[in-house]
Amino acid sequence: MGQTGGRRILVTGALGQIGMELLEALSARYGRDSIIATDIRETDKLENLGIKFHKLDVLDKVELENLIKDFEVNEVYHLAALLSASGEKNPELCWKINMDGLVNICELSREYKFRIFAPSSIAVFGSDVRGVASQNSPLNPATIYGITKVSGELLAEYYHATHDVDIRGLRYPGLISWKVMPGGGTTDYAVEIFHAAVSGEKYTCFVNEKTTLPMMYMDDAIRATIELMEAPSEKLTVRGGYNLDCLSFTAEELYSAIKQSIPTFECDFKPDHRQEYADSWPDSTDGTKAKIDWGYRIKYDLKSMCSVMIKSLRQDVQ
Ligand SMILES: NC(=O)c1ccc[n+]([C@@H]2O[C@H](COP(=O)([O-])OP(=O)(O)OC[C@H]3O[C@@H](n4cnc5c(N)ncnc54)[C@H](O)[C@@H]3O)[C@@H](O)[C@H]2O)c1
Repeated sequence: MGQTGGRRILVTGALGQIGMELLEALSARYGRDSIIATDIRETDKLENLGIKFHKLDVLDKVELENLIKDFEVNEVYHLAALLSASGEKNPELCWKINMDGLVNICELSREYKFRIFAPSSIAVFGSDVRGVASQNSPLNPATIYGITKVSGELLAEYYHATHDVDIRGLRYPGLISWKVMPGGGTTDYAVEIFHAAVSGEKYTCFVNEKTTLPMMYMDDAIRATIELMEAPSEKLTVRGGYNLDCLSFTAEELYSAIKQSIPTFECDFKPDHRQEYADSWPDSTDGTKAKIDWGYRIKYDLKSMCSVMIKSLRQDVQ
């Protein structure tokens, strides 16, 4: 497999917040014929993009194997998962999808030798890590979602070390994007607030004004994903999940930044059960290892992220 050529890519959970944007980026870089998108939900949205779609539950290992064989897959972006807020409502299902799905992918990679991207999350950290989390900060999550992500990181390290599986991962921060609404995570407020602001509606934020979490604009996350997957295997010293440098702002600072462009926008703060998950996570993450190992650098700051979000949503509404 060359840097861009020869790829046969399967994406699981492709209809989610990250998947839909990743599909566009992968298709621009490697060609749409090299991709097969899958999700447990049905869609006809991908027809316009000319990307093949197959309905697939990642827990169905037989169907997964058939697709991998038939399409001669050599790279899997495994995005199917239940996120933090949805996971907490149904811990058993969260464990099943996040863990059994990943084991299915890793086991098939042992046989078919494809490269795997399996994202982790800042939810691996718990309340014993305050301020900035480093790569080696303790991993004591308080949510079932975080527990699946720590276990997923350990599985990735295990399959790499013991079974030579080429698996790679990032600890994504909360991702801010405008094309697809997020799927039940705790950082969803940082996306919903933009939709309300651009539609001229008041927003009630479900975390308090002082809540500070690691965040990133989607373009930076997609670029990180593709750069990591193209990095030479021997450079990588982490397989479970690299920390990334990120944005870090309070919910109030985000509100003020949006108000700079939309002065009439109003937001109040009524924390719900998600405040507890947010409080258990660090304010920011230190991505030094990703910088050293494969040269990752974040591009968007709070100002440029707000500006592109507002501009894109305004165009989308028209
Ligand atoms: N979006 C973020 O801010 C963020 C932050 C940290 C980590 N992540 C991780 O990135 C990955 C993708 O996240 P996302 O934000 O795109 O999530 P999402 O909820 O928007 O999308 C997940 C997709 O998985 C699909 N899915 C659920 N169960 C499935 C199953 N059994 N089989 C096949 N598909 C199934 C859903 O239909 C959905 O389209 C997840 O592993 C998530 O934990 C996301």
